[in-house]
Amino acid sequence: MAETYYAAINWNEIEDIIDKSTWEKLTEQFWLDTRIPLSNDLDDWRGLSELEKQTVGHVFGGLTLLDTVQSESGMEQLRKDVRTPHEEAVLNNIQFMESVHAKSYSSIFSTLNTKAEIEEIFEWTNTNPYLQKKAERINEIYKNGSALEKKVASVFLETFLFYSGFYTPLYYLGNNKLANVAEIIKLIIRDESVHGTYIGYKFQLGFNELTEEEQQKLRDWMYDLLYELYENEERYTEELYDALGWTEEVKTFLRYNANKALMNLGQDPLFPDTANDVNPIVMNGISTGTSNHDFFSQVGNGYLLGTVEAMQDEDYFIGMDE
Ligand SMILES: [Fe+2]
Ligand SMILES: [Fe+2]
Repeated sequence: MAETYYAAINWNEIEDIIDKSTWEKLTEQFWLDTRIPLSNDLDDWRGLSELEKQTVGHVFGGLTLLDTVQSESGMEQLRKDVRTPHEEAVLNNIQFMESVHAKSYSSIFSTLNTKAEIEEIFEWTNTNPYLQKKAERINEIYKNGSALEKKVASVFLETFLFYSGFYTPLYYLGNNKLANVAEIIKLIIRDESVHGTYIGYKFQLGFNELTEEEQQKLRDWMYDLLYELYENEERYTEELYDALGWTEEVKTFLRYNANKALMNLGQDPLFPDTANDVNPIVMNGISTGTSNHDFFSQVGNGYLLGTVEAMQDEDYFIGMDE
């Protein structure tokens, strides 16, 4: 008998049942941007002002960047610290879906925007100081942080930093506009909700193994980081939304989601804001059922991947105990 050079993954011997349940949840909710009939939103799109169109473009450019970081760097770095082989498989699934997310914004652009507009969006995205700062701050932690710090960065990105962008499509959805664009965003939010909960859970396993002193040190670091990211996010929000007059309500939404990120990490909230403080139109957008219930069946040739369930409030506030 040779010594084991490489151990085969055995799904019949599960060390952490959360790995298995997360794998099942994520594979059940698999989706692709190409199945959403985005061109049905063109009428709504033509009715928006130039300023609104430009804001939507920049918002999705920013989201593209964050999903690019997650798909290229984030999951690659988190994979180095897995506790089980099944966790690594889950992270592989997450990594692929991050690529789907990043690509789906390009499907939106190619439907709604001209070539020149798309070039402007990417130029803006790749040079906007606040956007670049958040990408850099997170990515430096991915490259140089401890296993637990990297998980904090990932949860902050997915449960907090995305929401300055998600606000816009949710706002339009709440106003019965751009329903198919919003459909994509809601599928992304549903994925991010599971990612943030899962990575937050893995964080808590490690955090609970620390001494009280180490925990306090990490907690201080975490809150400092969150506050630094929040300040940058305020500037980003002002640049995106001042002209539309949405800045203050977006900031409320950010603080609400920052608290959710802390909750995923098992920590106390930082801000007083709750769901009741968020613009009800946006909360309405979040809780609306998906509009293309059986869009997978449009594929034909027996390639039926299953139907996507209407998104419920619980999907947004997903818990691992369900
Ligand atoms: Fe994503
Ligand atoms: Fe994610």
